[in-house]
Amino acid sequence: MDVTLDTIVSLCKRRGFIFQGSEIYGGLAATYDYGPLGAELKRNVKEAWWRAVVHERDDIEGLDSSILMHPEVWRASGHVESFADPLVDCRSCRKRFRADHLEGYQARYWLLGEFVDETGARRDQVSIELGAAIPAPDQALATSLLRERGVTVKALDEVRFEGASRACPDCGARALSEPRMFNLMFRTHVGPVQDEASVVYLRPETAQGIFVNFDNVLTTTRRKLPFGIAQIGKSFRNEVTTKAFIFRTLEFEQMEIEYFVKPGEDEVWHERLLRDRFNWYVRYGIQPERLRLRAHTAGELAHYAKACYDIEYRFPMGWSELEGVANRTDYDLRRHREFSRKELSYFDPIEKRRYVPYVIEPSAGVDRSAMAFLMDAYDEEVVKDRTRVVLRLHHALAPIKVAVLPLLKNRPDVVEVAHRLADDLKRRWLTRYDDTAGIGKLYRRQDEIGTPFCVTVDVDSMTDQRVTLRERDSMRQDRVAIDRTADYLAEHLNLEPGPIETPLAVGSLSGGDHA
Ligand code: GAP
Repeated sequence: MDVTLDTIVSLCKRRGFIFQGSEIYGGLAATYDYGPLGAELKRNVKEAWWRAVVHERDDIEGLDSSILMHPEVWRASGHVESFADPLVDCRSCRKRFRADHLEGYQARYWLLGEFVDETGARRDQVSIELGAAIPAPDQALATSLLRERGVTVKALDEVRFEGASRACPDCGARALSEPRMFNLMFRTHVGPVQDEASVVYLRPETAQGIFVNFDNVLTTTRRKLPFGIAQIGKSFRNEVTTKAFIFRTLEFEQMEIEYFVKPGEDEVWHERLLRDRFNWYVRYGIQPERLRLRAHTAGELAHYAKACYDIEYRFPMGWSELEGVANRTDYDLRRHREFSRKELSYFDPIEKRRYVPYVIEPSAGVDRSAMAFLMDAYDEEVVKDRTRVVLRLHHALAPIKVAVLPLLKNRPDVVEVAHRLADDLKRRWLTRYDDTAGIGKLYRRQDEIGTPFCVTVDVDSMTDQRVTLRERDSMRQDRVAIDRTADYLAEHLNLEPGPIETPLAVGSLSGGDHA
């Protein structure tokens, strides 16, 4: 079923998946804390990813690099210069927006100076309209933009912002400012002196930790191309547009692979890795019709990318990016080679020559994946005139695998057997004992948090030495001998990724959207 954002937000809070960050102080916008169940879900998502990309493959190594890095890293990567959003302010209601998210936004400028127009006439001012992501024109930009219109710039004395082409989306006033570029990296300082020399950044992507360790991993593992390096870790961005729950936050976790290939083989590997990553979501239970691929347009491409596809999920707010799979070319290794003066290249033993590998980068968000898995698993059905909420999570992702529920908490023998059974199961799977309500309510609670199996111990268990095992999705109940419970669960819990039933065809990626 299609679930609303409000429903998921309220389930997450009520059941202890996700809370507003710093809630008792009124919250800090765009920060969230994962509660007991959320922490388990997130661990399971990361575990499923690590297993698929590091353990089950023999061409990818794992890494865990530091969040704080030498500041030169971010100059080499281009983040100091280009990792910025164009922002505009409404001078009436004081709200701030990303100009590139405001449809039809253009900034009009008057340029004052000396110009010769296309008819040869001299003019002392001309006007110009620029799109959202273009900064106010300086001498070089004005000269090249006006040259396209047949106007020559003799002198540029002043640039005056005249107004924006559209009104404020919030208050409707025609008072939007010109765009100003705002760098998304958080800055802090190392040591007690807070000057420019001590500036470091909280990493805005985990990728750079991989690039700077390329040679370390290559030499210590004696890898040959193609091979990849994978890591999971926190990244930080001073995002302006947040909202939509954990979709875009200031602090988030990424699961990134940098896959190094011989130049010329990059496009084939781009397709392969894209297919593998698309299938990963399906194998862990996401319905394929709620996933699609979208090719980036030239204007959207990041400063380092030759091509990029987004794996998108149909969230309640529309199709939105879960993961980007980019062809980063040799940009990063070349830039780090230039800035660090270290030889970041590969000696090809077959061709007997050195070259800088190309890189394919599948970059996923842990939080967005967790949000998509939660939304996709959410279901409601009417059972005996009551609505049952059930999270049909893949068993490997479910926070709790088994709940042990004694039917009568006042019977010491029932409670004792239930506790003993829970202690036994706990050694193999995350098991929770719960006797805080009647059985109907206990089942509903476990369904709502996606627990695949409930075991109930009742009075009859004392005589027939059997318990009832109830499966979450079908609600089927089996009566099983107490000492066979663990075997039954081992048989029925499916912790493996599902089969690839609707594989994404290689070769189907030529432009546009792909459902
Ligand atoms: N290294 C490439 C890179 O970082 P990106 O498209 O900016 O590419 C990759 O980010 C993924 O990280 C996104 O698809 C998304 O899942 C996640 N992500 C990025 N910014 C995020 C944010 N502010 N909050 C939550 N997740 C974010």
